[in-house]
Amino acid sequence: MSIDESTALPRLVVLISGSGSNLQSIIDAIRAQRLQAQIVAVISNKADAYGLQRASNAVIPAITVDHKGFASRAEFDQALQQQIDSYQPDLVVLAGFMRILTPDFVRHYTGRMLNIHPSLLPLYKGIHTHQRVLDDKAKEHGVSIHFVTPELDGGPVIMQAKVPVLPSDTAKSLAQRVQAQEHVIYPRVVKWFVEGRLKLEGNQVMLDGNVLKRPALHL
Ligand code: GAR
Repeated sequence: MSIDESTALPRLVVLISGSGSNLQSIIDAIRAQRLQAQIVAVISNKADAYGLQRASNAVIPAITVDHKGFASRAEFDQALQQQIDSYQPDLVVLAGFMRILTPDFVRHYTGRMLNIHPSLLPLYKGIHTHQRVLDDKAKEHGVSIHFVTPELDGGPVIMQAKVPVLPSDTAKSLAQRVQAQEHVIYPRVVKWFVEGRLKLEGNQVMLDGNVLKRPALHL
């Protein structure tokens, strides 16, 4: 690819806190030319997040903004926003970024920030979703990709994938089954966005100019 081609590609900044397997799925989709985009930076709030290593391996700038270095949530978010904006992203991709975001931060990226959440939203917002699903003896579980709005895990959902809950499941086995689906659907939704097919209008998801009445389901 020439420099001109690469500078024209849509710019993604990916935020992580941990392993970065979803980051990896996006890196892989770009490498395989299934996704025409470039990751211009990966930012973690934890210096030891393995996802930073994945970024470095892919020759992507890997940056830590440690939340512990800030007196307040607002100050951390401001520093994070400055870092992100210095890379001029078209889209901010939250990929296992385990921080509650301030409304000002969220508003700044309205319509250009996505999150992945390991449940069939609006069910099981928050943490420990796999264990809570098991505790409830639910029959199915899954993952959701949504636009980020100030309500935690409450933004309009774009795509979901479902998995069955098996009698033998532990939180770990269930998480693995859900993650396999995560790695399929996140690059797809990012692709819709960078192709200009996906928009947030008010609190509604628009796909190809039509209101998405219910989340797209990956089967
Ligand atoms: C993913 O399973 C994602 O759904 C979850 O964190 C994991 C990160 O894995 N996100 C949340 O719980 C957000 N509330 P990864 O670092 O390997 O991509």
